[in-house]
Amino acid sequence: MFPFWEVPAFTSGIFIALIASFHILPSHLATGAFWFVTYLEYRSIKENKPHYMDFIKKFTLLILIFCFVLGSITGVGIWFSATIASPMGLSALIHNYVWGWATEWVFFIIETVAIYVYYYTLGKIDSKTHLKIGITYAFASWMSMVVITGILAFQLTPGKWLETGGFFDGFFNETYWPQLFFRTALMFVIASIYATLVASFIKDKNAKGDITFKASLFGIAGFILMVLFSVWYVYKLPGVPKSLDFGGVLAYMKILNKMVIFSSVIVVGYLVYCTIFPRFTNPVISIGTIVVLFLGILGFEAIREGIRRPYVIYNYMYSNNIIAKDVPAKGIKAMGEKINKDGFLSTLYLIPDDFRKITPKNRLEVGRIITLYQCGNCHSMEKNGKIRPLPRYVSNLGMNAPEDLAVFLDVLEGYPYMPPFFGNEEEKLAVGSYLSTMVN
Ligand code: HEC
Repeated sequence: MFPFWEVPAFTSGIFIALIASFHILPSHLATGAFWFVTYLEYRSIKENKPHYMDFIKKFTLLILIFCFVLGSITGVGIWFSATIASPMGLSALIHNYVWGWATEWVFFIIETVAIYVYYYTLGKIDSKTHLKIGITYAFASWMSMVVITGILAFQLTPGKWLETGGFFDGFFNETYWPQLFFRTALMFVIASIYATLVASFIKDKNAKGDITFKASLFGIAGFILMVLFSVWYVYKLPGVPKSLDFGGVLAYMKILNKMVIFSSVIVVGYLVYCTIFPRFTNPVISIGTIVVLFLGILGFEAIREGIRRPYVIYNYMYSNNIIAKDVPAKGIKAMGEKINKDGFLSTLYLIPDDFRKITPKNRLEVGRIITLYQCGNCHSMEKNGKIRPLPRYVSNLGMNAPEDLAVFLDVLEGYPYMPPFFGNEEEKLAVGSYLSTMVN
């Protein structure tokens, strides 16, 4: 095990969640926008409508700044936070998909070069060549989604990879196609809302109305497809929690569901409004809709995370980076049995030597370390922690003797959303002792 990244009160996962959820806006805008932009440019060439090109110039500048600055920063942020929050999880992804990422980066480079060339040659080269550069961008950016979706979907449903260890068996898994189509539809929705935002600044009412109307139709079409594909996506989700509220076990799943539905209703309501009153939009309403959309994305991502729990790679690696299952084709062995025999401490390379053997003197401190590693990804350790504070949860169990709490650790396995506890009897007692100090 690598060193543990402890984030007091919040847990490390929340960082990845916030950064990754935000990243959805610039990344999907970047991939979706040019399907609309190139369509407009085509119409502009055919019908000689220069006001389309004025809009395209502003919209492309927004994409350059929002996607290629904030999108890039948050993209790197995902890598950085995921690497320190879940080193083994990321290591597993890299070991299997390094060529997937390499392929994505080829498209990413094409995309980056294409959009700069597109922006800086606008109005300076012949329009047909310019349009071709736009189409190159649209295609390359969507291809980066085609590639990255395989790796993201692998985490949720590793598919036949669990048996074969094969690159494409994991890549084209059960949720690959529904996710790809879902994200493709979502990118149209996101791009259209941003397009209406840019259009809302246009002074000429006719031009504004014309572009807003077209953009919102584009978004509504995306929305309808998104709803259809989301049904397919949900249908393909793994195992137990298909009902999405976990059969009522976790009440907040219902709240998250409502958040997603609320956000969807506002988004589609806004788009319909834009088709009916395309001349009467304003930046405040557009930005407000983007904020509501972001809340919906947060809810959606939290549900997806909930479905994957207790795994970071479904059915393969638990959130706390312990490997759950043999993958013989890759020579990978489940870690549970060995840890129960040799102790969890045997997996920690970087602890002081006098912690290697549990004594009455170091028991609490060692207990805290093991608790951090095995529970700290999902629970904060502080009494007033914001994310599932262990002191409150343990107090609610109604036990406080270290021995009883050590026995509780054996029960963890029975919870569908928590990994079993791994360790020997001495370690269970150490964790039990540490947990008992939390009970008030
Ligand atoms: C994969 C994430 C995850 C890990 C790791 C995890 N838990 Fe949990 N735990 C949850 C979730 C989710 C709940 C449900 C309650 C909620 O979400 O508010 C929960 C609930 C609990 C509860 C309340 C149970 C009840 O019946 O009321 C206790 C106690 C608890 N966890 C202790 C632990 C301990 C101790 C560990 C480490 C040995 C641990 N958890 C590891 C996710 C996790």
